[in-house]
Amino acid sequence: MERNISPKFGSSLPVPCVQELAKESPEIIIPTRYVREDLEPLPLAVKQIPVINMANLLKGKSEELKKMDIASKEWGFFQLINHGVSSSLVEKVKTETKDIFHLPMEEKKKFWQKPGDLQGFGSAFVHSEEQKLDWCDLFYIITLPTYLRKPDLFPSLPLPFRETVEMYAEELRNLAMTLIDYLAKALGIEQEHIRGLFNEGLQAMRMNHYPRCPQPDKVIGLYPHSDATGLTIVLQLNETEGLQVKKDGMWIHVKPLPDAFIVNIGDIIEILSNGTYHSAEHRAVVNSEEERLSIATFFNPRLDAEFGPAPTLITPQNPAKFRTVGVEDYFKGLFAGRLERKAYIEVMRIQMEDSPNS
Ligand code: OGA
Ligand code: NI
Repeated sequence: MERNISPKFGSSLPVPCVQELAKESPEIIIPTRYVREDLEPLPLAVKQIPVINMANLLKGKSEELKKMDIASKEWGFFQLINHGVSSSLVEKVKTETKDIFHLPMEEKKKFWQKPGDLQGFGSAFVHSEEQKLDWCDLFYIITLPTYLRKPDLFPSLPLPFRETVEMYAEELRNLAMTLIDYLAKALGIEQEHIRGLFNEGLQAMRMNHYPRCPQPDKVIGLYPHSDATGLTIVLQLNETEGLQVKKDGMWIHVKPLPDAFIVNIGDIIEILSNGTYHSAEHRAVVNSEEERLSIATFFNPRLDAEFGPAPTLITPQNPAKFRTVGVEDYFKGLFAGRLERKAYIEVMRIQMEDSPNS
């Protein structure tokens, strides 16, 4: 199929630039739109999320595959070490992305979201002037397949950033494909089925900049949510911590290991696995001393595919728990709503009307 236009998944209202707000004065009164009253005072646990060694997976070590399988069921998150992406490329991604967020406002305006579109600097999931906002500026861009790139955004990105994003996109696509193959193997999903879905898969990056906040406890950098994607690979760009994962009613602080990626299972893989794998809620908190930056690279099935629980996992004893949907419709539905907890996957869940407990 020949396509040359970037898909339109919807839009989000314009919001202030948090970096500009935070700059005004260190003593600023936080605008009420950012002040949250509903932040759960869940206990914070000091615990390390599972660590998976990619080199062992590639050597075919079954214990490592088992470890990844358990991490995907129980946590939905793990750190990936020895992932094979060159550290010089990762360093370039870190520096050049920081530079993009620190460009003068006049420059950044060239890459601002246009009305009716989601790509560029701006917001996501904001649909009313009353809605609370995250203490975060974001840059969202569709990176692969190349024919879905936005023709007036991608080519206008400054060099060397554009080339670095292109290289990083390729490397992360390959890494995500390999991981998804292993996950499918652990789950007992046919490789052909998985490949059919994820070949030419839709990849997007959400680059997050969380400026310093004088009253960090009043705001949230990124509200608790699960990712609607297949698989997400997060790179933290600086040392400041802030990502937290919900596990057993607690928020677990993620301390990125040097040279590791943070990988998380998204809603699409939870659906494909018919609920066996867990797309975990997570959030980002902010800091009064330092800014924080990250890139979440989302890897999804191809835009013209449909997905639902994998046929090999469905039996009379284990019926499908989720509907089958088209990828494009799924994303349109996602961006029409808010990013809140696990709300969107619930829309996909089949209600068991005649279940004995209902
Ligand atoms: C996201 C996300 C976490 C972070 O962009 O979906 O969860 O550490 N980011 O910024
Ligand atoms: Ni996320």
